[in-house]
Amino acid sequence: MAAHASQAKHASLWREAVLLREYPQLDGDRAVDVVVVGGGITGLTTALLLARQGRSVCLLEHNRIGTGTTGHTTGKVTSQHHLTYARISKTHGSDGARTYAMAMEAAKEQVAGFVEEGIDCDFRRRAAYIYATSAAERKLLDAETRAARQAGLPAVFDEDVPLPFPTLGGMRFDNQAEFHAGRYLAGLTRLATEAGVEIFEHTRGTDVDEDDHGCVVHTPHGRIQAKHVVVATLMPFLDRGGLFARAFASRSYVLTARVDSGLPGASLMSAGSPMHSIRSVPYDGGELLMVVGQGHHAGSSKAQPARYDQLGEFIQQHWNVTSFEHRWSAQDYSSDDGVPYIGRVNLRSKRVYVATGFKKWGLTAGTLAGMLITDAIRGRDNPWASLFSTTRVKPLAEAPKFLAENGRVAARMLGDRVLSLRQPEISDLLPGEGGIVNSCGQKVAGYRDDDGTLYAVSSRCTHLGCQVAWNAAERSWDCPCHASRFTVDGEILNGPATRPLPPRPTP
Ligand SMILES: Cc1cc2nc3c(=O)[nH]c(=O)nc-3n(C[C@H](O)[C@H](O)[C@H](O)COP(=O)(O)OP(=O)(O)OC[C@H]3O[C@@H](n4cnc5c(N)ncnc54)[C@H](O)[C@@H]3O)c2cc1C
Ligand code: FES
Repeated sequence: MAAHASQAKHASLWREAVLLREYPQLDGDRAVDVVVVGGGITGLTTALLLARQGRSVCLLEHNRIGTGTTGHTTGKVTSQHHLTYARISKTHGSDGARTYAMAMEAAKEQVAGFVEEGIDCDFRRRAAYIYATSAAERKLLDAETRAARQAGLPAVFDEDVPLPFPTLGGMRFDNQAEFHAGRYLAGLTRLATEAGVEIFEHTRGTDVDEDDHGCVVHTPHGRIQAKHVVVATLMPFLDRGGLFARAFASRSYVLTARVDSGLPGASLMSAGSPMHSIRSVPYDGGELLMVVGQGHHAGSSKAQPARYDQLGEFIQQHWNVTSFEHRWSAQDYSSDDGVPYIGRVNLRSKRVYVATGFKKWGLTAGTLAGMLITDAIRGRDNPWASLFSTTRVKPLAEAPKFLAENGRVAARMLGDRVLSLRQPEISDLLPGEGGIVNSCGQKVAGYRDDDGTLYAVSSRCTHLGCQVAWNAAERSWDCPCHASRFTVDGEILNGPATRPLPPRPTP
């Protein structure tokens, strides 16, 4: 029987068999120098670097360490961020592109440095390629290669791309890297706790107060006083820098497969659409092929199981697949001008830092965030900081795209309020189906599980009130406005929401 994507385990490879110690829930008030909120690569790197500078640090994670996007990534550690350098040269000038390149190279080497301290995570040096399959894409890559070289990167155009299907060549960076994201995070967690970081899991940061003397982080389990707070939650839950309107989330789908030949000995990504990111991963004494693609806006009706099938079809067109092993999907935010936001939450704040907008390159960008925020808290000037500043002036060239994105969110907010007159009844839902329906006279987000049990929760996102949308691929409620996600019984999967969807009655 031919292999099919739906036969793959619905779970991230990075979270399989990685033994992370469980950390306690916060229990009562305390005081430290720095509170870091978020236990992904950004939060853990920041906490570790600050603790090594002698700061007392505690890290809060609302779920378990590594359950966010870092636990669902592709694991490429590179300064090659798709078609970035030509764009940044236009919007931030050649100095901006050079700064971006130097900063991301330094972040990559910071990861390598932590690995050298004894993190066993299959870290390996690889060439990274962006490949073309049309003349138009090749032209884009010519421009990107020139821009990357001008930015000081080792970019070359290579006619031979190590893929089992024809291409029109690709831009190659040597000396890039890949790792096992789960084992890297486990190692980073160990280094952080050895440096004195206290970790509290199942502890959600819900608010941060700041005055001239310090900050207070609120959680349901106690308050923590601190001199500084770092919000490293993929998208900050504090709406103080207008970041909700300046970064937009998209989801992508990941499949791993056993193939009989043609595993790439490099990291690869297509220049155009449909976008595919490709690598191989050491697994179980052999190697799996990993392919990522099928991206779309978070909260879109495109979130269907067919996304996995289509990705599987792409793989089967080019490789002989013995079995599909893992499938998962995840999301990340892109900033309006293509440069991550890293720094103080707004111009008035002196003590609260955020990091977001990594556009699916946060293994380097999140590591960089840890480096920049640590310098800022230490009072050390960093020449790269201003490019990434959250309060930078937005380049005009990017304004139309930014306005279009905000128009989409505004339309959702308005449309969700107007188009609410006719919904089906919750009892009409088939097993495994979810939808905005009527239940006991109320409009709800309803779901019927495979055993027939009905679930109903409020259909209004607890962040800013948009109507959530059914994600049929993951069986979750996803918000199209700023990408909060909830389980079928309303628990938070992804922020910026900090409150669950309240339950509603079912018949
Ligand atoms: C499919 C996919 C593939 C990718 N591949 C690559 C790649 O190959 N290379 C690369 O560089 N980047 C890649 N990225 C991007 C990269 O994985 C992310 O940018 C990066 O992992 C983000 O790390 P983070 O620590 O900022 O966020 P996360 O890893 O999401 O961590 C944030 C943590 O904060 C917690 N949290 C949220 N809200 C709260 C709260 N209120 N209180 C307490 N805790 C909270 C969450 O539970 C989570 O654990 C990819 C992204 C996707 C979606
Ligand atoms: S995430 Fe902002 S309204 Fe839902």
